[in-house]
Amino acid sequence: MAIDLSLDYHAHILPGCDHGSDSIETSLKQLGMASAVGIKTICATPHFYPHKESIESFLQRRTQTAKVLQEHLTNNMPTIQLGAEVLICDGLDRLDGLPCLCRGETNEILLEMPFYQWPESIWDTLYALCERHDIKIVLAHAERYSPEAIERLIQNNVSLQLNSECLIRPLQRKRYLKWIKNGSVKYLGSDIHMLGDGYRAWEKCVKLLSK
Ligand SMILES: [Fe+2]
Repeated sequence: MAIDLSLDYHAHILPGCDHGSDSIETSLKQLGMASAVGIKTICATPHFYPHKESIESFLQRRTQTAKVLQEHLTNNMPTIQLGAEVLICDGLDRLDGLPCLCRGETNEILLEMPFYQWPESIWDTLYALCERHDIKIVLAHAERYSPEAIERLIQNNVSLQLNSECLIRPLQRKRYLKWIKNGSVKYLGSDIHMLGDGYRAWEKCVKLLSK
C-alpha cells in the first residue's frame, strides 16, 4: 500500500473558482484543517466543464484565484499544486490544449465520468484518452461509479483516485481496499467543497491505512 497520505490529490479550495470555496477565509480554513491531519501538498482541482468553458478561460480563472490565495498563505500551510477535475465529454481526446489541465508539472489528468451508465461513445473517448502518450488518466472518485466499469478500467491499467470518505464506510470498504492493495488506487482525495465534514474522514483513513 503505497498511497501518499500527505498528498490530497483532489480538492476544491480556490476562493471563488468553483463552488468549493466562497472566500479566502473558507479556503484558509480548508487548508488549516488539511494541515492539521498531516497534509503537506494539496492539489487544487477546480471543475472544468468542456461544454461550458474554454481551457483558456478556465486557466485564467484558476491562475487569478490561486494567486489571491497564495498571497494569504502562512508558513505551516500545505503547498498548493494546480490541476483540474475534467468532466469527460464525447471527443474530449481531440480537445486542443488538454495537457494544460494536468496536475502541476506532471502528465496526469484527473477525469470525472458521468453519473449515469456510460454510453459506448464515452467508452470510446475514454479509450482514446488512454492511448494518448502525452497524458495519463487518473479517474476521480472511482467509488462513485459502477464497480464493473471500474474493474474494466483496472484491466486497462487506468489509475484510480478514491475519496477518503469511502473508506470509512465498513460495508463497501472491502472492495476499495482490494483496489488499493492491487495497486490500482494511486491517490486519495478529500474532494473538499466548503467546510463540510472537513478532514475527519481523512484522519480515519490515516489510521486505517497506516495499520
Ligand atoms: Fe471534485
